Amino acid sequence: MSYQYLIVERPADGVALVRLNRPRQYNALNLQVLTELAHAFQTLDNDESVRAIVLTGNDKAFAAGADIKEMLEKRPHEMKNAPFISGWDAVALARKPVIAAVSGYALGGGAELAWACDIIIASETAVFGQPEINLGIIPGAGGTQRLARTVGKYLTMEIVLNDRRLTAEEAARFGLVNHVYPVDTYLEEAIKLAAKIATRAPLAVQYAKEAVLYAYEAPLQAGLQHERLLFYTLFSTEDQKEGMQAFIEKRAPRWHGR
Ligand code: CAA
Repeated sequence: MSYQYLIVERPADGVALVRLNRPRQYNALNLQVLTELAHAFQTLDNDESVRAIVLTGNDKAFAAGADIKEMLEKRPHEMKNAPFISGWDAVALARKPVIAAVSGYALGGGAELAWACDIIIASETAVFGQPEINLGIIPGAGGTQRLARTVGKYLTMEIVLNDRRLTAEEAARFGLVNHVYPVDTYLEEAIKLAAKIATRAPLAVQYAKEAVLYAYEAPLQAGLQHERLLFYTLFSTEDQKEGMQAFIEKRAPRWHGR
């Protein structure tokens, strides 16, 4: 796949790496970047050889948000009808696990891109924030909702109403970041984690992701019901029989993804 603003690589078995590549604008997310992102994620999600996806920027910026210059003169219907939110949606709706590897600025829509991922690995220099209030707008790609569900009302209010920025260490303390590593190694660590997940039973990984995400959306009883259905469904797969047989025979399982 070749793109103007993305680089897609395969750094390890079963792992796809998507790099945002608009460095002079701190990876600001214009329509072209967002369209390419949606295309890349849909393609990788449908590629059987891909088991996990890492999304990254560069050491200085994951992404500094939606492109302010491009948005300046837009009217509501133009914002709504452009393939704008589809970039974030494609990341959030991927069936495969997505790991964000974040260094430098993750602001506005850039932070929201990280919140749309399943696991967040940060470098020590990462800075997360929702500065939209400075532009006379609010987060529009899920920031208010995903933050409030993760860190609660009070911290979210401060971030969204008053542009409070979080360092990588703070974000980890508040449960927004899984691990913080030096800038030299954060990407390598994210790829290693993705490679490890990529060795696991593919259907079980997908169902586990779906079940966890359901907890965001449904009341507890509905979530428990959904989890149970997915759990029972996995007993129809070859991988379940293989996984349990391998345990009993004290050997490593061989996954077939069916
Ligand atoms: N949109 C468009 N261009 C951007 C941009 C953005 N979000 N962020 C940075 N750039 C551009 C700058 O305009 C500048 O371009 P020129 O050289 O052509 O002037 C270039 O990137 C470098 O930026 P700075 O000169 O500002 O660099 P800096 O080191 O002084 O500051 C920064 C870096 C703190 C990231 C600063 O650029 C900044 O605050 N950017 C905007 C952050 C922001 O407000 N994001 C929210 C956008 S709205 C949104 O995302 C809505 C949503 O929820 C979907």
